[in-house]
Amino acid sequence: MKILTVLGARPQFIKAAAVSRVIRSRGGITEKIVHTGQHFDKKMSQVFFDEMDIPTPDYELNINSLSHGAMTGRMIEGLEEIIIQEKPDVVLVYGDTNSTLAGAIAATKLQVKLAHVEAGLRSYNMAMPEEVNRILTDRVSNFLFCPTATAVRNLQKEGFNAFSCIITNPGDVMYDSLLYYAARSNYQPTTKNYILLTLHRQENTDNPQRLQTIVEAINMLAEKFAIVFPIHPRTQKKLTEWGIKLSFNPVEPVGYLEMIGLLKGASLVLTDSGGLQKEAYMLNKYCVTLRDETEWLELVEGGYNFLAGTDPNKILEFAGSYFAKEINSNDLLYGDGHASEKICDTLITHIG
Ligand code: UD1
Ligand code: UDP
Repeated sequence: MKILTVLGARPQFIKAAAVSRVIRSRGGITEKIVHTGQHFDKKMSQVFFDEMDIPTPDYELNINSLSHGAMTGRMIEGLEEIIIQEKPDVVLVYGDTNSTLAGAIAATKLQVKLAHVEAGLRSYNMAMPEEVNRILTDRVSNFLFCPTATAVRNLQKEGFNAFSCIITNPGDVMYDSLLYYAARSNYQPTTKNYILLTLHRQENTDNPQRLQTIVEAINMLAEKFAIVFPIHPRTQKKLTEWGIKLSFNPVEPVGYLEMIGLLKGASLVLTDSGGLQKEAYMLNKYCVTLRDETEWLELVEGGYNFLAGTDPNKILEFAGSYFAKEINSNDLLYGDGHASEKICDTLITHIG
């Protein structure tokens, strides 16, 4: 079996690290990797290839920093050529970025099988580009690998049982990666008793009022708690453009091994990231989420994650209540750490 993996953004490197390792350990499968170039700063891309076990991409498209349509369109064009040349048995895409949607459209139009890792997630907020990307990708996928039971139910509600596709719940490949790299990360943060913050979601960064409100709340928090904030370049650009000022210095984006160290040392996580919400739980930290809804419902239902949106009162109240408290949970919400093996087994069974 020949797999063509399409990736391009930070969380996809972390997910692909787990799956690629298993692919390499199995005989009879070859993997070719295309990096679309969506993320391109050294600290948003190369650092993950340097530190983690991800093969060097076979192709680099260098497509980034464009509008959604231009970015996705150019990626489809580049991927189409590569798929025609490589003739893979299956195209593998991760998550909900523009690179994911481009891979999905290119593969489907060429009638090549499509496997979607992290299928079935829904925020039910169509204003999010990610929601559009994941719904469209799911609909044309032949293999839908759901990370949670909620994700499987979401697909069933949308009538996917009537479509010709295979839906499984192998667990979350991010958990596989976390277990593997947590055992290999010995990064010790110098700051103690801090809130770990990340912020990059378009709905938060591209609306000046919303960004201003969030920053005001963060600045209030910073009067009480130390905050470690590896800042996404998108957010830094918007803060500069609109002259919105943080009362403390953020740091540059960090590699995954450093991130795991920062997560382990944190007293609380404050984020609008999808991945961070789960990693907080996996490392027993409470999380306050700077969004109005989440795809990771099981965290909210379990009382591990609190949706604060941009409401300063909620942000301050949740942060004050859960700072330095540890989660004590044995629920395997994200599988058993062997999602990647199960994904490969399913592909081998059906494709050969
Ligand atoms: C993308 C994904 C989002 C995911 C996030 C992970 C889409 C629609 N969004 O959002 O789902 O959570 O990646 O981090 O695909 N930039 C840089 N350097 C970089 C990367 C980005 O300066 O290395 C700048 C770009 O020039 C652009 C902005 O950040 O101005 C946004 O980048 P883009 O890839 O469009 O979206 P993300 O916010 O990174
Ligand atoms: N991450 C990282 N360094 C950072 C910020 C995030 O390694 O400076 C990791 C994080 O631990 C998680 C993934 O990147 O594994 C999540 O990426 P991001 O928040 O960019 O995207 P999302 O998950 O929201 O799509």
